[in-house]
Amino acid sequence: MRLSDCHNIGDLRLLAKRRLPWPVFDYIDGAADDEITRARNTAAFDEVDLVPNVLAGVAEIDTSCTIMGRRSALPLMLSPTALQRVFHWQGERAVARAAERFGLWFGISSLATVTIEEIASLVSTPKLFQLYVHKDAGLNASMIARCRAAGFDAMALTVDTIVAGKRERCARSGFTTPPRFTPSALWSYATRPRWALDYVFREKFRLPNLDTHVSEGTGRAVSIAEYFNTMLDTAMDWDTAARIRQDWGGTFCLKGVMSVADARRAVEIGADAIMVSNHGGRQLDGSRAPFDQLAEIVDAVGGEIEVICDGGVRRGTHVLKALAQGATAASGGRLYLYALAAAGQAGVERALTLLKDEIERGMRLMGVTSIEQLDREMLRQR
Ligand code: FNR
Repeated sequence: MRLSDCHNIGDLRLLAKRRLPWPVFDYIDGAADDEITRARNTAAFDEVDLVPNVLAGVAEIDTSCTIMGRRSALPLMLSPTALQRVFHWQGERAVARAAERFGLWFGISSLATVTIEEIASLVSTPKLFQLYVHKDAGLNASMIARCRAAGFDAMALTVDTIVAGKRERCARSGFTTPPRFTPSALWSYATRPRWALDYVFREKFRLPNLDTHVSEGTGRAVSIAEYFNTMLDTAMDWDTAARIRQDWGGTFCLKGVMSVADARRAVEIGADAIMVSNHGGRQLDGSRAPFDQLAEIVDAVGGEIEVICDGGVRRGTHVLKALAQGATAASGGRLYLYALAAAGQAGVERALTLLKDEIERGMRLMGVTSIEQLDREMLRQR
């Protein structure tokens, strides 16, 4: 299977599965507990039907929109995700460059494998930095200051990882940072020589935005769960969020809000946007899908704050449904991570080409020429 044989995000997922050792693939693909929420995040879109209008004169259409004060060519953001150079040696650089070519916002994780400064100087497309609040207050302050100095356009504070979700695929495979070659996974590494050679011979794996390497914090390779549970601040609360909003001073987003009450509090602390998200089902299994929560949240706070629907998006029509429900934009992680793992920057560009085509085709078939024309009249619950 080649990149040109990939006609949707599902195809790119299969290509990623072939290229990656299974512990790495399962880290991307997997989620918490029974992975019910992960599946529901996508299935939720299928529970709502589109009702198109016809004869709308759709020769010229405009897919652009404004997200957090910046123009975006599509109503789609690339969510921040960790460890991208483990998936493909081009890592965050590939994602940033692809986002720039398509005129999109993208996010960089606190657990990124390139520096804040390098990413900021690499591309001019709008970018956000995702902050995990560490117990070490000095580390939080230093990341905020570095993002400000580097000119990041927004900060997203992730609020749904107060403890690590129970990711059983990772527990089984023994996936750690840096990856450890456990005996049970050895065959999988050995039969993926391209990945293994890239991994061993390209630059040394690091998490350069944390003052210490993850493993140096604990003295050895650690699982993401162990990292969250030892390094992150479990005492984080609304005062912490308000303080970080203040310290940062720029455009601010809370990532991982699911309830109306929390959405209202996000407005109170002066957030500019919320990402309605359950971390792609990787945290609280049994949590509702972001798309299912969207209408309630938009109705409560949509006039005061931007509402971004994050998770489960695999099709252009999923983006259109989120927009019709009232979201400012949709956002996703795996939709570009499978593609990155499959073929680096070319893969991410393939994923974005497919999604862009699907959004454009979907708009024409829905009879709309701009995304503002999408509204709830065009949706029906099954
Ligand atoms: C994530 N996500 C994430 N979120 C975050 O705030 N910081 C992070 O470091 C990461 N890392 C990460 C790694 C991987 C492999 C995945 C799949 C996800 C969550 C991410 O930002 C987003 O919320 C989800 O990916 C949305 O779900 P979908 O689009 O993957 O279904």
